[in-house]
Amino acid sequence: MSRAQENSRPLLRVRRSPALRGACRVPGDKSISHRALLFGALCKGEVEIRGLGLGGDNASTAAALRALGVSLQVSGSSGVVHGTGFAGLRESAAALDCGNSGTTMRLLCGLLAGRPFESTLTGDPSLSRRPMGRVAKPLRLMGASIEGRTDPTRPDGILPPIVIRGGNLRGIDYVLPVASAQLKSALVLAGLQASGRTTISEPGLSRDHTERMLRFLGAPISADADQRRVIVDPSGWNGELAAAAVDIPGDLSSAAFVLVAAAIVPGSDVTVEHVGLNPTRTGVLDALVAMGANIEVTQTAEAMGEPVGRVRVRSTGALRAIRIAGEMALRSIDEIPALAVACARAEGTSEFADLGELRVKESDRIASIARELARAGVGLEQSAEGFSLRGDRALSPRGGSVSPDGDHRIAMASAVLGLLSEEETLVPSEDIATSFPTFAEILRGLGADLD
Ligand code: S3P
Repeated sequence: MSRAQENSRPLLRVRRSPALRGACRVPGDKSISHRALLFGALCKGEVEIRGLGLGGDNASTAAALRALGVSLQVSGSSGVVHGTGFAGLRESAAALDCGNSGTTMRLLCGLLAGRPFESTLTGDPSLSRRPMGRVAKPLRLMGASIEGRTDPTRPDGILPPIVIRGGNLRGIDYVLPVASAQLKSALVLAGLQASGRTTISEPGLSRDHTERMLRFLGAPISADADQRRVIVDPSGWNGELAAAAVDIPGDLSSAAFVLVAAAIVPGSDVTVEHVGLNPTRTGVLDALVAMGANIEVTQTAEAMGEPVGRVRVRSTGALRAIRIAGEMALRSIDEIPALAVACARAEGTSEFADLGELRVKESDRIASIARELARAGVGLEQSAEGFSLRGDRALSPRGGSVSPDGDHRIAMASAVLGLLSEEETLVPSEDIATSFPTFAEILRGLGADLD
């Protein structure tokens, strides 16, 4: 993007805020929304969706499905997908634009690896830098042809655009090199279209929305007791998913920004209602508890095998440093930017480890967190797979212009830190819209000073 284009982007202006108070809901879970749209298209019949995510990423999945011949209507958070089954997908004349969304691209790779036609997948500059060899390698082993641009940073690595020629897949036993729900889900989608059994083992348990939703729709998927190995066995299956109504809870990854804001802005008392509480995603809540936050979590319902509930946070002014590593790092992988902001207002040095995957998210998130916290005056040291950060309960961060590098979570984390600043913080609002377009509206409704 040129300097002139940078300067003309719409900005969110964030100022020092009084206490945040009240209750809110956040838009539907982005990960579950992608799956509802994709798996809805694979059902036989009409799938009604409530609580769809409102961000640009989910819109990219919907647009790609339309280009593949699927009829679907979306109006705000409601959607109807007229499922055609795997066999109803048609070759798209144009490239499928996945925008900023890694989940759209990687899940589509798995789905289209089984379809007997050619597809081209493209993305924005951020997505075009993200590694696709990790998904191409096992899909090639299953029999698909997948090509991309050469990735100069990795042997065998490929980058978007991706060209797939699918069909005639055979099942494989595959051990994922990293715990990744995108990769696991791509192989599940390919495995459902393959001859024979596919097993997918991962080094840690990544989010399991795919397994939960596909099982809910009647797909032949099971898992070992510790869920580290997923088994897809289509033999004896008629290849059909049963259409059902889908109800998506609020996105805990979006709620995390609101919850951290409530934890650090003095005098706050905020409740987020009807939010997803899948245990593979709740590391952020456990981390806040371990930091001494005053937080109450209540499960109120279950939807499609997903626990749903309410989370209340009251600020205490007494947060303490934490170490996030291992399983906790995996269960809070998307919430590290929000947690880093909480740690900036906590007493002591927080350690973040086992987070090498952050280097290949929408931006190099370790570098982005380091850059934006340094701008705000917070001391941070990077390592290859993490960082350590010196917190201060009396921190008064500097404001200024945020450069999120195309990364929605860096934009929102910086905005939340700006709620404590005496100076104005300027955040490109388009970046936020990738996952949480109502971010500013919701915070304003709770009393935050931003427009
Ligand atoms: C996602 C999986 C995670 C996560 C991403 C969404 C998903 O990525 O970081 O924001 O919906 O499957 P990886 O699977 O690459 O770890």
